[in-house]
Amino acid sequence: MFYPYFSCTGTMEALAGYAADILGADVYEIVPEEPYTDADLAYYTGGRADQEQDDPDARPAISGSVENMEEYDTVLLGYPIWHGQAPRIISTFLESYDFAGKTIVPFCTSHSSGVGSSADNLHSLCADSTEWKDGTRFGGGTEKDMIEEKCCWNLLYALLFNSIK
Ligand SMILES: Cc1cc2nc3c(=O)[nH]c(=O)nc-3n(C[C@H](O)[C@H](O)[C@H](O)COP(=O)(O)O)c2cc1C
Repeated sequence: MFYPYFSCTGTMEALAGYAADILGADVYEIVPEEPYTDADLAYYTGGRADQEQDDPDARPAISGSVENMEEYDTVLLGYPIWHGQAPRIISTFLESYDFAGKTIVPFCTSHSSGVGSSADNLHSLCADSTEWKDGTRFGGGTEKDMIEEKCCWNLLYALLFNSIK
């Protein structure tokens, strides 16, 4: 199982580490070619992140690439919610590979928003044969034992059980 994630302030990064432990997933950080500064991330200031989220066609460049994507059937996709949506760099990521026939399980963190339409709006970026599971949202500060206790992971196991590679 593959777990690409994007994280600017460490929340999703921590969850990715837990996922690696709990699920045995191969974790991969989606690293922006141009790192986001604190000013870029200050939302509702008209800064870089705000501008990108305002533009559905924005595709921030990613540094590096995944060499062995064909080895994975199941992809946990981790991202923070930015203005109710996945950051545009997630669009860059999805358009960079062929996800035909793969299963994608979206994971997000946010201050308070739910996963909402953030994942649905990504579907059109992948092949029609990509199977999208319902997304799950975790709040900042979610600890590993809390995640394990929460049935979310059990649900995830059940969702994925037949498709884990
Ligand atoms: C540009 C930007 C927009 C955001 N928009 C939302 C939002 O719409 N709803 C919300 O609950 N949190 C929002 N947040 C907060 C992040 O989703 C939250 O802090 C997340 O856990 C950060 O994950 P990370 O530490 O892995 O980067 C936003 C943060 C940024 C930087």
